[in-house]
Amino acid sequence: MSMPLQKTIRAEPYRIKVVEPIRLLDRGERERAMREAGYNTFNLRSEDVYVDLLTDSGTGAMSTHQWSAMMLADEAYSGRASCFRLKKAVQDVMGYKYVVLTNQGRAAEHILYGKVLVKPGTYVPRQMYFTTSKFHVEAAGGTMVDVSIDEAHDPQSRFRFKGNVDLRKLEALIHKVGVDKVPFINVEMNVNMEGGQPVSMDNLKQVRQLANHYHIPVFFDVCRAMENAYMIKEREHGYSKKSCAEILLEMCSYSDGCIMSAKKDAIVNMGGFIGLNDANMFETCENLGIEYVGSKDYGGMSSRDMEAVAVGLREGIKDEYLASRIGQVRHLGEKLIEAGVPIMEPVGAHAVYLDAKRFLPNMPQSQFPAQSLAAALYIHSGVRGMERGVVSAGRDKDTGENIYPSLELVRLTVPRRVYTNLHMDYVAEAVGELYESRDQISGLRMVYEPKHLRFFKARFELMAQQLPPIAVKQTSQIRA
Ligand code: F0G
Repeated sequence: MSMPLQKTIRAEPYRIKVVEPIRLLDRGERERAMREAGYNTFNLRSEDVYVDLLTDSGTGAMSTHQWSAMMLADEAYSGRASCFRLKKAVQDVMGYKYVVLTNQGRAAEHILYGKVLVKPGTYVPRQMYFTTSKFHVEAAGGTMVDVSIDEAHDPQSRFRFKGNVDLRKLEALIHKVGVDKVPFINVEMNVNMEGGQPVSMDNLKQVRQLANHYHIPVFFDVCRAMENAYMIKEREHGYSKKSCAEILLEMCSYSDGCIMSAKKDAIVNMGGFIGLNDANMFETCENLGIEYVGSKDYGGMSSRDMEAVAVGLREGIKDEYLASRIGQVRHLGEKLIEAGVPIMEPVGAHAVYLDAKRFLPNMPQSQFPAQSLAAALYIHSGVRGMERGVVSAGRDKDTGENIYPSLELVRLTVPRRVYTNLHMDYVAEAVGELYESRDQISGLRMVYEPKHLRFFKARFELMAQQLPPIAVKQTSQIRA
């Protein structure tokens, strides 16, 4: 008699062909590595990291289809076949008519936000902010204004679309500064600084309507729009039967264009573009691309990169892959919740965010709780996360004071198709142990601070003379 197929568990929709060895340094070596890195996980050497959850950007594992497409790359200076294939993929997957190629997301932001849209004295509404996006708006003399819903600032709110734009805040800004001072509305999908929280389709439609009313263009940040599409399929009424590919096309139809860092959802090591529907704006951006990043048919990428992006865009939007990818992040989140660790909820699509304010309730934000927690986690376990709190928020561009954001988070970002769930279990156990010994974690003092985007390079010293070894009942039994 045949047994019915067990349908609840689904394994990853791929098998592993090549592996990259990793190693866990001993505790003394990890302490030394962290000290030498100035207690900033960005400054660690990656070979000293056991499980690397710094970012999901450019760190995904490419497929056999991507690697084999790279061999077809046409590296001619102009008229490359690879360029046409990539542009066709963007048109098919996102629906934008015109594509300007860039090497990565921030180059697209530089051109579209910094050189074309933002003028001095203007205001750009967006949910919360993203570091490089804000930088390019400010560098052009503009100000980024947070129009996220209040729930986004509460790590314990379980609202299912915490990435939504607050339409009242958006309209209030337009009234306050005047329509002429709002060059565009910027909407991020699966909002990174909010803990990877999705925007609903209904909200995107409403933003579009409001924008039409005031004749303001809307540009999306679609780095993680595919993951957002999956959340819409799962959570929003009327979308469960649609494919993520159909949902993404509808999402993008509510915008005038986008910037894309292909290093995220397109599962490549390098790449980006600007998607546009307006021929004149395309002409302007393409010319700026030639001046700043590379000629129009490669835009700072080699054709190898472009071929990988073209295939990755089509792979990254597949329902089965997205279910597995988001399922793995959720697996980590659920383990941490089980262990009683305070995290941002609901669990985001690309990362689990530790809530450093609740993890270290007695540490003032001036001692950089999330930075301290990220440093302590590496020392304890060899796991590398990223600070997303006061260090990332930087200083107010007018007063020069530190900005103390509502969210003080450590992001445990899961690279795509790279780690197994046993790695996730190791991370969960390590964080759980650290939580039990949280009163032994020392705050930090900043001793070197770059002027812009300081989190990438800042250096710190421990407030307490030395971080005592964490006394845990038992060290991790799990070895991934
Ligand atoms: N927009 C968002 C929402 C991002 O998360 C990033 C990059 C960018 C734009 C810039 O793209 O790196 O290709 O220049 N985020 C990375 C991260 C760095 O780790 O979250 P890029």
